[in-house]
Amino acid sequence: MCGISGAVGLKNISELLFEGIRNLEYRGYDSCGVALINKSRLLIKKDIGGVEEFYRKHNVLQHKSKIGIAHTRWATHGKVTQENTHPFTSRDGNFAVVHNGIISNYRPLKAQLQKEGFKFSSETDTEVLAHLLEKFYKRSRNVEKAFLKMLNLIEGTYAIALISSYLPEQIFCAKKESPLMLGIGDEIKFVGSDFNAFIDHTKNAVILDDGEYAILSRDTYVVKDLLSKEEVTKPITKIEWDSETSKKGGYPHYMLKEIYEQPQTISNALDLEESGLDEIVDLFAESENSYLLGVGTTFYVAKYAKYVFSKLAQEFFPSISSDEFMALAIVNKESLFFCASQSGETFDTLSALKHAKLKGARTAAVVNVMGSSIARLVDKVVLQGSGPEICVISTKAALSQMVVLTVLAMKLALKKKVITRKIYNQHLQSLRELPEIIQGILNERSGFIHRLAHKYSGTRNWLYLGRGVYYPIALESALKMKEVAYVHAEGMPGGFLKHGTLAMIDDDVSSIVFVPPPEDKVLYEATMHSVEEIRARSGFVLGIHFTEQGKNSDLYSEELILPKVPPLTAPLIQLVIGQLFAYFTATSLKRNIDKPRSLAKSVTVA
Ligand code: AGP
Repeated sequence: MCGISGAVGLKNISELLFEGIRNLEYRGYDSCGVALINKSRLLIKKDIGGVEEFYRKHNVLQHKSKIGIAHTRWATHGKVTQENTHPFTSRDGNFAVVHNGIISNYRPLKAQLQKEGFKFSSETDTEVLAHLLEKFYKRSRNVEKAFLKMLNLIEGTYAIALISSYLPEQIFCAKKESPLMLGIGDEIKFVGSDFNAFIDHTKNAVILDDGEYAILSRDTYVVKDLLSKEEVTKPITKIEWDSETSKKGGYPHYMLKEIYEQPQTISNALDLEESGLDEIVDLFAESENSYLLGVGTTFYVAKYAKYVFSKLAQEFFPSISSDEFMALAIVNKESLFFCASQSGETFDTLSALKHAKLKGARTAAVVNVMGSSIARLVDKVVLQGSGPEICVISTKAALSQMVVLTVLAMKLALKKKVITRKIYNQHLQSLRELPEIIQGILNERSGFIHRLAHKYSGTRNWLYLGRGVYYPIALESALKMKEVAYVHAEGMPGGFLKHGTLAMIDDDVSSIVFVPPPEDKVLYEATMHSVEEIRARSGFVLGIHFTEQGKNSDLYSEELILPKVPPLTAPLIQLVIGQLFAYFTATSLKRNIDKPRSLAKSVTVA
């Protein structure tokens, strides 16, 4: 969703804010803006488009200031226009405010303010905040009091930062269900939607909780409780991520860089502290009913895990898309709620988690971002250690989560004595070989996949088919194609085809089939039926398979043959192919790879 960056200190803040919102651009990139204070006067610049273009066009760096807030927007209320871009200022020009979230009661507030003579220049929910600040300041002549009065009145979700010409050396900020943290440097303080807003300048962060607000100045900061107004002592969180890993490092796009980081992130996942994983396995073993959750890509991670738990540990754990959880799941004290989330901030998953907690359920998660809301809220968390994932399209985080979940399923199987230690060790060995195999594929097959993707980049409809554990791989690969290439792609279980979709097979619909290794006899044969069904109707099939002897063009229209691997890791390897195929299709179609249209990295609104 939107990105907030603010700083107060000695340096030229304008430049720091540029870096801040540029690093946060993956959260939203419809439009952006900045508010600075110069000689006690607020200066506002904002426009539609990306951060670099905006800074260049408005020559923002020429404006020197020691305090400022900036925002990069993902539109929720109101179209993408300059008027709807943050920051918003009060009528008297003394307050500037940026916001991430949704003010759910903005309509009545706006109506009341309009009655009182306030003029609105935008269609957004946020603008009410600026006018409320002016209104309440007039009564109390105190910025903090006006801020608190405003916070007490608004409903919904928010991360807010404001500056005022009345106190030109302080930033005020607060959060409720939208992420916000402080960066604590020497003679400089930051506020940001996440670490990326200030990681280049300080690794000391203070993570704000709901119901808290903070006041920052160059040399000091204070966090207070919204209700009691008492000061709260907050721990400093050390950011472990290296700012270098957030850079593109020679790759044309973050997406490609992150795909190429997967051998490393899988190794990281396999080196996680055993005791943390064992505690979660205990939760699965002790709970009467366990649910696996996620949304978008992480729903497919959960779906993948459902198959792995069933196959390895003989446990059926339903996977549910987080947004459907409340309508579907029956949770109580004996339940386990387990979710996967890259950002740890996704609204749908966070809401489902809160619901589960309210019902007394046990909770656990695999999360990439340390200090995120989900990571802090669950009883047990696995921090997967994949490093920052900047591209809006998730690749390395999802694959690494699948690896973590495979290990959890193996551990549960061992605990339940469904598998022997010997089999466990064999599986572990297969996983340990995965980074090298993926590295080999990236080195040796990328060129071929690139050519293939380019050749078929004109295809407008893809069917992605997989059976069993390959079904979530098909779904996830199809999602990659949709979100990065804007090409229609539908994931489907192979067996489903003949129940309707087969009627679609013609020159306009091409299929990609994820074929298991032949040792996985039942799945393999079932998958081959799907291939035959399509070929019998002269449909195009790109077969992604592991059989050298399958080099027969009468079976596949095109094929991608992968090295022989054990069935346990075969679907994970195929996912990498799905990622690369989508990436290269998107580059052929000249798409905006890291920031696809209409999307944002962490979806923190309902
Ligand atoms: C991934 O490519 C998507 N952009 C999206 O589906 C994402 O996986 C989903 O919004 C969940 O995000 P999370 O992992 O940060 O919770």
